[in-house]
Amino acid sequence: MHRSVRIGVLSLLAVSLAVPVLAQSSADVYKSKCAMCHGADGKGDTPAGKAMKAIPFQAPDVVKASNAELFAATKDGKGKMPAFGSKLSDSQIRDLVAYIRTLQK
Ligand code: HEC
Repeated sequence: MHRSVRIGVLSLLAVSLAVPVLAQSSADVYKSKCAMCHGADGKGDTPAGKAMKAIPFQAPDVVKASNAELFAATKDGKGKMPAFGSKLSDSQIRDLVAYIRTLQK
């Protein structure tokens, strides 16, 4: 009786810890690696973003750019934008491009 209650509590805990870990990834990677320049909202309205002239993700040219172009800019760098190809996997970069698309809405 006592033991099954404890197992129930533990498995509940495991589920509630696992769900945010799965859901967080691209938003968290964005926050830790991209937001200092691009801003949490993608507008580039940060000191570093302004100094480097980061283009808002909402700008028409960026909205029109293909996923492949945004992927290449992130992986290989572009102008002052650093390359992330050695720090992030291709699937992480794909997820980040999808995350950027949500900031453009
Ligand atoms: C050190 C500042 C900095 C960081 C960190 C940074 N960027 Fe950028 N990024 C820039 C700048 C500046 C540009 C504009 C480059 C240009 O067009 O000359 C840019 C451009 C881009 C572009 C191309 C679209 C555009 O605006 O021309 C994408 C996509 C992009 N960044 C994604 C990311 C992602 C994803 C991350 C995090 C993994 C990230 N950036 C981190 C500075 C940064």
